[in-house]
Amino acid sequence: MTDNAKTVLITGTSSGVGLAAAIAAAKAGYTTVATLRNLDGAGPLKEAAAEAGVDLDIRRLDVTDSESVAEAVDGVLRTYGRLDAVVNNAGVGSVGTLELLAVEQIRAAVEVNFFGVLEVSRAALPHLRATGGRLITVGSAYGVVGQPFNEPYCAAKAAVEGYMESLAPVLAEVGVTVAVIEPGPISSSFVENIPVDRQAMLAGAGPYKPAFENYLVHIPKMIADEVQTPAEVAETVLFALTDPSPPLRLQTSEFSREFVAAKLADVDGTAIQSVTRQWLAPAETP
Ligand SMILES: NC(=O)c1ccc[n+]([C@@H]2O[C@H](COP(=O)([O-])OP(=O)(O)OC[C@H]3O[C@@H](n4cnc5c(N)ncnc54)[C@H](OP(=O)(O)O)[C@@H]3O)[C@@H](O)[C@H]2O)c1
Repeated sequence: MTDNAKTVLITGTSSGVGLAAAIAAAKAGYTTVATLRNLDGAGPLKEAAAEAGVDLDIRRLDVTDSESVAEAVDGVLRTYGRLDAVVNNAGVGSVGTLELLAVEQIRAAVEVNFFGVLEVSRAALPHLRATGGRLITVGSAYGVVGQPFNEPYCAAKAAVEGYMESLAPVLAEVGVTVAVIEPGPISSSFVENIPVDRQAMLAGAGPYKPAFENYLVHIPKMIADEVQTPAEVAETVLFALTDPSPPLRLQTSEFSREFVAAKLADVDGTAIQSVTRQWLAPAETP
């Protein structure tokens, strides 16, 4: 960390993309404030920083806790006097469908993946305006294409897409650049971290059981075919941080680019529905 280096705050750096992005930003010379909701989980981050030979400023930030958001952002300003970029990375997955989920489970997914992004962005914006900074959010290709049995997550990520697309021209007027990262599947612990017992849900899935069962068979295959590492996704985050003029939407792989392109060209929704319905059909035997 150098005295006049640009400062970036990243959320959700205990693992996966957030951890990899923190290391990539620090390696690129950013003063990197790597935040986690639970500092007890900082072990892997500290090990990765030591291995990479970089310094990180590790702080607590829970995106669903307004006080912790304010404290983290104010703390950065107190320590460094500036904030040049935020990477909204914290996220949580979901699984299920409307009749199988309590409204509290749906709200919880939206709370982290959508309102958490807004809380952090709102707290950071006065400081990003002061530096002509960047507001970067890790969305998802599944915020563009709705994935079956993943409704709360896809809805929250779609909300992020819409919010940032609306906000981008407004913030451009005050000198802040907005970018949304759109990864496909990533080899992180994200899927295992989803707070749902799939087998219990499957057992109680009633009329949804055959399609849900097929979906649970299909998804690992798709992940195996198209997965990227967190470090690969972090390269796109770094591009959004450093490119002189990044576009609004940045896909992280050929798969996510083709997936998003198919949706953007699918004016009446028929093409995407025919793709996602295949995910619920019995798997073809090889
Ligand atoms: N994995 C995929 O296939 C995939 C695909 C497309 C997009 N994405 C997006 O990529 C981003 C990173 O996910 P990942 O794949 O790296 O998964 P991950 O390893 O599970 O990382 C998610 C991070 O978010 C943190 N988090 C969850 N709730 C939080 C909260 N309330 N406040 C602060 N941090 C919180 C987690 O912290 P804890 O350790 O405390 O839980 C963890 O550090 C997410 O936005 C995700 O939606 C993932």
